[in-house]
Amino acid sequence: MANMKATKLLEQDHKAVKNLFSKFEKAGEKAYKVKKQIFDQIKQDLEIHAQIEEEIFYPAVRGTEDSDAQDLIAEALEEHEGIKALLEEISDMEPDDTEYDSKVADLREEVEHHVEEEQSEIFEVAEDQLGNRLEELGEELEERKEALRNGGSKTRPPPQRGAMR
Ligand SMILES: [Fe+2]
Repeated sequence: MANMKATKLLEQDHKAVKNLFSKFEKAGEKAYKVKKQIFDQIKQDLEIHAQIEEEIFYPAVRGTEDSDAQDLIAEALEEHEGIKALLEEISDMEPDDTEYDSKVADLREEVEHHVEEEQSEIFEVAEDQLGNRLEELGEELEERKEALRNGGSKTRPPPQRGAMR
């Protein structure tokens, strides 16, 4: 997957997690094992997604001249914290808990709200301000995502090239 723009890559992640939420909702009410598996996948995907955004994409946006960038990123980070807290809360529940499905529904709502804002506001700044760097950032995101998926270290290796302009 050569040279995918950062925004495009993140958008694909958003779509993938949206599909997982739909899958969760379509699972039978008593399909506890399946629901647990889908939730675990959602959790892993969202954690990796949030991490690569926080390590690579958000700092790039924050480093631009755009006057709204600081506020937008601060808000996005706060939303990430809320989402992570909810992920932990659900992790501690059993899938046959009466609250389980409604908590996952809450999570979906929070994620979708965040995604909507991110795609409309932060991506706009990114497209505007980062232009040609978006492909390079996309590559960085992709590499980092792979590393994290393969159980890579939680600390980021030093940037190899072109991380700073
Ligand atoms: Fe995102």
